[in-house]
Amino acid sequence: MNLVAIAQVSYLVAAVLFILSLAGLSKQTTARRGNLLGMIGMGLALAATIVLALDISVGGRGMLVTAILIAVVLLIGISVGTWRARTVEMTQMPELIAILHSFVGLAAVLVGFNSFLLEGHGAVHLIEVFLGVFIGAITFTGSIVAYLKLAAKIPSRALMLPGKHVINVALVVVSLGLGGWFVVAPNLAPLLLMTLLALALGWHLVASIGGGDMPVVVSMLNSYSGWAAAAAGFMLGNDLLIVTGALVGSSGAILSYIMCKAMNRSFISVILGGFGEGTSSASSSAVEQGEHTETSADEVAAELLAAKSVVITPGYGMAVAKAQYPVADLVSKLRERGVDVRFGVHPVAGRLPGHMNVLLAEAKVPYDVVLEMDEINDDLPETDVVLVIGANDTVNPAAQDDPDSPIAGMPVLEVWNAGHVVVFKRSMAVGYAGVQNPLFFRENTSMLFGDAKERVEDIVKAL
Ligand code: TAP
Repeated sequence: MNLVAIAQVSYLVAAVLFILSLAGLSKQTTARRGNLLGMIGMGLALAATIVLALDISVGGRGMLVTAILIAVVLLIGISVGTWRARTVEMTQMPELIAILHSFVGLAAVLVGFNSFLLEGHGAVHLIEVFLGVFIGAITFTGSIVAYLKLAAKIPSRALMLPGKHVINVALVVVSLGLGGWFVVAPNLAPLLLMTLLALALGWHLVASIGGGDMPVVVSMLNSYSGWAAAAAGFMLGNDLLIVTGALVGSSGAILSYIMCKAMNRSFISVILGGFGEGTSSASSSAVEQGEHTETSADEVAAELLAAKSVVITPGYGMAVAKAQYPVADLVSKLRERGVDVRFGVHPVAGRLPGHMNVLLAEAKVPYDVVLEMDEINDDLPETDVVLVIGANDTVNPAAQDDPDSPIAGMPVLEVWNAGHVVVFKRSMAVGYAGVQNPLFFRENTSMLFGDAKERVEDIVKAL
């Protein structure tokens, strides 16, 4: 068998490895294996692509030039990728993912233009080019806005242009018209015009979505980037890219659907940027709503020792403080003393799907005490103490009690039903959605101010 045939078979093996990787990633216990299979698949895919690219260039455009070009881009990509992966904080993962999606979008746009300029103009090919560039351009600017919002480089609130839905629909309709022109009379003008419109549409779609709904946007852009890659696969006639793009596209869509369900949002209205309408502005709901009570690490330690059952609900603040290690320590100390300790993890706690699960697994917290929101909510009324460690929006009763709240309708951890709630945070500041939390002012809630890691360490010492 020659090298080219081996490369073709490697594509098939890589596709199977990607599917096994996704299957592995669906459970914590098999996630490591899933990652490993994905890495092997990607290594194979890259090697096979290089072999095939060199083969195409034999004789014609110069194998040496192709090899040098590939080596240069690999070197740049590997250096930047390794540096970013080593330096990125876990809390910055969502913004990194968002910016990576923008690269996929940009790649699809470039492949589309390249394919139009260099290859034939059959109707099917023209439609592939047009769709690839359209989806790619939306993904490109949409991901850049998502990155800017997640990295707090622009305000995360929803942009409210008058008639925003009309703007979106108009951009799509005009783009479709340009598509017709492009297929009937293939030339650069409609393609360029549509690219500009799609870039504007991507920007506007994501800019119109408010902070609290960003989790869905990130996974939706993940899905778009998959479809953009699949479209590029069609244009390049690359089967593996089509398969991989379809896997990313559909898994991103499924994840978006699951997240929408978790947040009680309608998928369609998230995509259309329909959130935040008719709700009170975040700043007006950010005012404090009464007196809060403070407590100390010593008091909390004593209370925990007297408790029979304790539930910990972690949130973004636990990630910022890197408090998962002392938290794991606290859990094992309490369990040694016979206290029943469990975790309640909200589906959108933190800043990326599974954020809390990853941190707790990293700190070696046993999987069987980490429960999902739906599994723990019914047990909260019988729980003596709940420790809310750096969570805010995900434990906000306003989601149920205040129909005007920007997070109204989002299912939350009903921690206020427990005997006593201790909230770990540094100040009375609001959470990601920018709304004040009435939980902090309830009679059975005490605030333990300070960095979550330091406060948990204080409690462990006091124990
Ligand atoms: P948030 O509502 O983001 O609140 C986190 C809290 O942690 C803040 O109130 C902050 O208060 C506190 N905090 C920050 N640093 C801390 C530290 N070093 N020590 C102690 N406390 C600290 O958290 P959440 O309950 O996890 O909710 C997640 C939010 O993010 C939701 O609105 C969700 O929609 C959104 N979101 C989620 C995702 C995904 S996929 N999970 C993606 C994007 C956005 P202080 O500043 O007073 O300390």
